[in-house]
Amino acid sequence: VAVPVICVDGPTASGKGTLAAELARQLGYHYLDSGALYRVAGLAARRAHLALEPSQEAAIADLARALPLRFDAGRVWLGDEDISDAIRTEAAGMDASRVSALPAVREALQALQQGFRRLPGLVADGRDMGTVIFPDAPLKVYLTASAAHRAERRHKQLISKGISANIADLRADLEARDARDSSRSVAPLKPAEDARLLDNSDQTAQQSVDQVLHWWRQVQ
Ligand code: C5P
Repeated sequence: VAVPVICVDGPTASGKGTLAAELARQLGYHYLDSGALYRVAGLAARRAHLALEPSQEAAIADLARALPLRFDAGRVWLGDEDISDAIRTEAAGMDASRVSALPAVREALQALQQGFRRLPGLVADGRDMGTVIFPDAPLKVYLTASAAHRAERRHKQLISKGISANIADLRADLEARDARDSSRSVAPLKPAEDARLLDNSDQTAQQSVDQVLHWWRQVQ
């Protein structure tokens, strides 16, 4: 019997993480934050003083394959170090986007991601969950929101953490990251053909959760 998977893909700051984590909680499923893996790969490459470029593709892929990664109670560990905060900065997101454009790095992280698919089920969020990693998933959601809404949400998040930020800069950054993620040759950001589109610009987090749970009951 195939282990059920719900894929939640979409652009930067669309609310994928919030939606996917809440679905996993309500359904009692495992949760995969695939972006965190690329963020860790970017961090590890930086620390190894590797340029985040095609010339270092093989070296970064080797690093990615051997990451001593652990996910525990919502925290991400690299060896003995809790790197949860270090990988959440805007700069770490940009670094993740750079290393994620390298095909060998994507391939190095593929089996690790597929290993999260265990009973009773999985909710996976990212850019290519429905197109590449779990193409047979019974439910694929492509979550979007306008760039203005996404920048505003990211701004609120940062302010609530006591980090000052400028909305126009945030918007420019997330549009640059989306442009790179959408234009790369491997696993570009785009909805799977059988994905259901959900624009949450004018929805509360709870409304999005309810919509997806409704779809989930329909496909089962
Ligand atoms: O989702 P998050 O912002 O944490 O992802 C960081 C970056 O990692 C994205 O901008 C994207 O370039 C990359 N990524 C990816 N494929 C995924 C998840 C993230 O290429 N499945």
